[in-house]
Amino acid sequence: MSKLLVTGGAGFIGSNFVRHVLANSDHAVTVLDALTYAGHLSSLADLPSSRFRFVEGSVCDAALVDDLVAAHDVTVHFAAESHNDNSLRDPSPFIQTNLVGTFELLEAARRHDSRYHHVSTDEVYGDLALNDPSRFTEQTPYNPSSPYSASKAGSDLMVRAWVRSFGVRATISNCSNNYGPYQHVEKFIPRQITNIIDGVRPRLYGAGLNVRDWIHVDDHNAAVLGIIDRGRIGETYLIGADGEHNNKTVIEEILRIMGQPADAYDHVDDRPGHDLRYAIDATKLREELGWRPRYSDFESGLAMTINWYRENEGWWRPMKASTEQAYAKMGH
Ligand code: NAD
Ligand code: DAU
Repeated sequence: MSKLLVTGGAGFIGSNFVRHVLANSDHAVTVLDALTYAGHLSSLADLPSSRFRFVEGSVCDAALVDDLVAAHDVTVHFAAESHNDNSLRDPSPFIQTNLVGTFELLEAARRHDSRYHHVSTDEVYGDLALNDPSRFTEQTPYNPSSPYSASKAGSDLMVRAWVRSFGVRATISNCSNNYGPYQHVEKFIPRQITNIIDGVRPRLYGAGLNVRDWIHVDDHNAAVLGIIDRGRIGETYLIGADGEHNNKTVIEEILRIMGQPADAYDHVDDRPGHDLRYAIDATKLREELGWRPRYSDFESGLAMTINWYRENEGWWRPMKASTEQAYAKMGH
């Protein structure tokens, strides 16, 4: 059994990771989370208290981070400002949390010779053309487009430098777009599901031809746990489940599953700098660690996710109105 420090464990992917670890391993988990607008204790309800502890605080708090890293075997760093649209409104918290927070964790891992896993995104590679037959690999050059992806790219590069210069025992994973339960309603899929529940027409940015490579959050987290247990130190692993779909298709599928006409949505202004296409080649993860996605059928994963939002209105309702007010200020 190892003691895991999970930063950002009250967010979407982090809270699903905590549940996955407690259900599929004998590791104990401490969550460090600042409970920003994106963090919810309700995402961590009903966990077994003997193997789970919650600490409220920021990854930018050097003294707190030092104490916690020293007391754990592995740090799994999910905490971040994660939404592109917010980074276009105000990049400043992205610089603090994603860059300064990562720096504090790496310095603590260096001082205590502690194992560190860095959770990152495929957005660090920029985007691909729609007709490009290639996909991102671990060798693709970094080329981020937004303040969010630039801050994640910077944090990844710090991890690589701390491995090489200081011998920090770190791994990095870069994953594609996640979907599943407990995702904030600012994000594309839950925003559209909850709009439809509320009788509001979904909003598609631009023509909706942008492609995302969708993966169920449990498949992402199974890969992260595999990398922590069996990954090679200093290595980067790309995580993706061959789930490319354009946004228009996804909206139409959500509408179909929810019993609405497939064209019952509106086009709105495009996101500035909007990345066209992401696509992951996960050959290294599959061949080295034997990882395989369990949710290989996107339509049934989407239907399960829609059911979850229908059955858990008490979880998302408190954040819905303020999220839509913020979008309204952006003209969406
Ligand atoms: P999220 O926004 O749902 O959750 C982020 C969590 O971090 C929240 O609980 C928030 O309270 C916490 N947090 C923010 N600032 C903090 C700080 N200074 N100190 C401590 N906690 C803080 O994000 P998510 O979608 O779950 O993403 C988690 C990680 O996975 C991020 O690093 C993101 O870049 C990466 N990622 C996300 C996706 C995706 O599709 N969502 C895909 C690939 C990688
Ligand atoms: O690729 C991984 C990344 O995926 C993660 O690093 C980010 O943390 C995560 O937020 C996600 O980024 P995207 O910008 O791709 O996700 P988002 O859910 O914001 O948007 C998905 C697509 O849908 C994108 O092309 C923009 C579009 N969109 C989004 C919203 C919110 C719409 O068309 N309408 C909307 O209302």
